[in-house]
Amino acid sequence: MTRFPKNFLWGGATAANQIEGAYLEDGKGWSTADTAKYLGKEARSHLSLLKPMTKEDVEAAMADQEGIYPKRHGIDFYHRYKEDIALFAEMGFKTFRLSISWPRIFPNGDDKEPNEAGLAFYDKVFDECLKYGIEPLVTISHYEFPLALALKQNGWLSRDTIAAFVRYAEVLFKRYGEKVKYWLTFNEINIIGMTGYLSGGILADGIDNLLQAQYQAAHHQFIASALVVQKCHELIPDAKIGCMLARMEAYPETCNPADVLAAVEADESNLFYTDVQIRGAYPSYMTKFFKDRDITIDMVEGDEEILKQGTVDFLSFSYYMSSIATADKTGESTGGNLLGSKKNPYLKASDWGWQIDPVGLRITMKKMYERYQVPLFIVENGLGAEDTVEADGSIHDSYRIDYLRDHIEQIGLALEEGVEIMGYTPWGCIDLVSASTSEMSKRYGFIYVDQDDLGQGTLARSKKDSFDWYKQVIATNGEDLA
Ligand code: BG6
Repeated sequence: MTRFPKNFLWGGATAANQIEGAYLEDGKGWSTADTAKYLGKEARSHLSLLKPMTKEDVEAAMADQEGIYPKRHGIDFYHRYKEDIALFAEMGFKTFRLSISWPRIFPNGDDKEPNEAGLAFYDKVFDECLKYGIEPLVTISHYEFPLALALKQNGWLSRDTIAAFVRYAEVLFKRYGEKVKYWLTFNEINIIGMTGYLSGGILADGIDNLLQAQYQAAHHQFIASALVVQKCHELIPDAKIGCMLARMEAYPETCNPADVLAAVEADESNLFYTDVQIRGAYPSYMTKFFKDRDITIDMVEGDEEILKQGTVDFLSFSYYMSSIATADKTGESTGGNLLGSKKNPYLKASDWGWQIDPVGLRITMKKMYERYQVPLFIVENGLGAEDTVEADGSIHDSYRIDYLRDHIEQIGLALEEGVEIMGYTPWGCIDLVSASTSEMSKRYGFIYVDQDDLGQGTLARSKKDSFDWYKQVIATNGEDLA
């Protein structure tokens, strides 16, 4: 007997902008991700991801052919997808999470007609997956946005972007409805509350209250997501569509009620997004949050009804670490994928300062399942680490195996406790470009890709020790974690 259900979706996760490359090939338009410059080792800070961008910054990046922009080239999945998917199949993947690049389908975001070459590319990728019985799990928007729409209407700040997105999603549902049965709307939708540019396409020029702009953009994404959920149900009745949250489990630093309250508030600012997308309405605690920050959300008649009608089928989330919530804002802080936090003395951290906490995954699953009573899907988890290639080409990544084993063990325990979990897709199942730092040397994969931070290397793929380990985990449906 295995604790994992028979149809548990084991697999791995990626995003178009971090793997595909071919950034202007076959008619693809520019995306916000194509302007992310590699800033060197000293810029190993998550903060570069949060930096506001102006029109001038964007134009300078587009004109820059000298600088290193790793997301323009990814790991060349665009030309090597067959080899990569064959390796996923060898590991026994049941699912492969990937995203579609909006500007590959609509180069300007709102073109009259979709780009046939872009559509044909994903057809080939899905066919290749299905050939091996791998279910594609598709994120419609993962940390990129058509640059043309950023320049034209300031991205998600404009209500017009809703219609453009719904049309894009409708094209995807009609084209791929037979092939794709698992969909996610926005990757880590809560990122928009921290930075407007990457997934929101908001340029900071002339905006006084950037936070106001970000939350207004979030509102537009909520409406777009709700409309897309309804479209998906209408066009592909046997599909499931979920939301996606960067889950931030924050522990109170002490039993001081002020710290406990800080943890409750940290939860609210994170779960706000899933509250809207799963419960179908703005939670009451946000009224005060907005008031304190001079934020007014511009809603139009009918919005509340749309949110109510467009709730998702499941909650997917990323989980890498936990953090500390405190009323005391002094003291040393550690790294994190979006924001740092205080150091937790009970936890070790990765080389990037992300605090490793497998039990935190179970805590968060129990909490979210109790709150929402919808199935959960862990669509990102993993350890970013530098790997060493031995003289014989082998890569002994026992640290990665340890990290994944400990987290899978906690998923098994959560399943025993009755939490409904659809699947597990560790992040960066093949080495890819880092979202936050654009490094290549921050590796998550079971498959090594020969490329360095400067984009040099043969791009050859090879198996790490974790490759065979994960193959065994899948083959035994999560029972053999040794
Ligand atoms: C998540 C993103 O926040 O974390 C991924 O959805 C990202 O796109 C992953 O790659 C890991 O972060 P990083 O910065 O190490 O690539």
